[in-house]
Amino acid sequence: MSSQNAISRRGLLGSLGAAAGAVTVAPAPLFAQAEHAQAQPKGPTTSTVADRDRRMKWWHEARFGMFIHFGLYSVLGRHEWAMEREGIPVAEYQQLAKVFNPKPHAAKAWAALAKQAGMKYMVMTSKHHEGFCNFDTKLTNYCAPKQAAGRDLLGEFYEAARSEGMHVGFYYSLMDWHHPDGAKCAHDEAARRRFVDYTHGLVRELCTNYGKLDIMWYDVAWPLSAEQWESVKMNKMVRELQPDILINNRSKIPEDFTTPEQRIQASAEPWEACMTMNGSWGYHKADDDWKSPKTIVRNLVTCARGYGNYLLNIGPKGDGSIPDESVEILQNVGRWMDKYGDLIHNAEYCKVQQSLFSNFTRNGNKLYIHVHFWPGETVSIGGLTNKVLSAKLLPTGQTIQFQQDQFRTQFLGLPANSPDSLVSVIEVECDGEPDQNTLKIRENRPRLKVGI
Ligand code: GLC
Repeated sequence: MSSQNAISRRGLLGSLGAAAGAVTVAPAPLFAQAEHAQAQPKGPTTSTVADRDRRMKWWHEARFGMFIHFGLYSVLGRHEWAMEREGIPVAEYQQLAKVFNPKPHAAKAWAALAKQAGMKYMVMTSKHHEGFCNFDTKLTNYCAPKQAAGRDLLGEFYEAARSEGMHVGFYYSLMDWHHPDGAKCAHDEAARRRFVDYTHGLVRELCTNYGKLDIMWYDVAWPLSAEQWESVKMNKMVRELQPDILINNRSKIPEDFTTPEQRIQASAEPWEACMTMNGSWGYHKADDDWKSPKTIVRNLVTCARGYGNYLLNIGPKGDGSIPDESVEILQNVGRWMDKYGDLIHNAEYCKVQQSLFSNFTRNGNKLYIHVHFWPGETVSIGGLTNKVLSAKLLPTGQTIQFQQDQFRTQFLGLPANSPDSLVSVIEVECDGEPDQNTLKIRENRPRLKVGI
């Protein structure tokens, strides 16, 4: 992390604390809960903070990634947990492996869409809870190359992502509903030994067979503890094979970054919020609860404001095609990113956070007001502690008039209607790092006599 980009820890914790009682600005996610802000940064278990900062530089700048949930559940189209939640017998479920045969190189369209949306990295399920491996392995026949697909789907993904210039991550579920020892391992030492050897073996293959890997994204570590998984040993192996890799926090030991799921939660550790576009990770035909492109942009801005990442999911269908709704949403987001993407990728931690119609990002002394509910000709921000030097409407750069007193900063003469159909942006140059103190307004504003 460059020193310019580094968050001052005191600054971060101070702001998070102050934000605890704040109005939540994004629709779904909560942001910056105080109790998490109190946690001491732990650093990675099998590396050091200094080495993590070196390895993570690209990741902080990337900011926006695509998550891909793809497996046998994509054929069913009823959510990636269908096997467990519907109680489908293993013998019945595994028949799906005989029909799961996506069209060749479907991943090319995923990577092209990720690029169009302004994303810089992609993370795909190598094996989800169902236990089916999308990759070639010597350790089980329950894998794409030895079933109907007849080829390595993870390899196709890897190539497609790289050819669009993306950083690449593999998701790997430790929990396994198919392997005979996957549940028994909790109570039977011989089963645990076999299952942990199997797991470490698969992880070794993932880190060996594809070239440089940027992220190991573990999931659900049920039913074992970190000691039983031998997570320290496993992650040391991962780092030996891939010295620059980033490892998430889901092997039950803290590694390089935390993974708040379906919510946005800043912390002193590097963090990445992962989210679905509807309510499911795997393809779910009937789930029509789609987020709007505006909500996605707002979430992305909220992540950038807190110096975090946003990993946004697609759940391709069994043939590998992306649901139309997801394509449309991401194309819309991409059009916004074409105009404002630099503000997202270059964002530093932003202390200004309070508004009922906008959100914020920062770069140096420049504050960017991202207005999602356009109020009309005047946009006002309370409690800005800096002197404003200039203001512009983006992306045109048209100068904006402003006036300031110690409580209120007003931007004047703006269009009556939102210039951007998603989120409009005002650039404000300040005389120092932008900061906000709304409590000062409450305490110090001149008050009138009672009854008047
Ligand atoms: C949860 C779910 C899983 C999904 C993951 C993504 O752990 O079990 O289906 O893959 O979240 O973060």
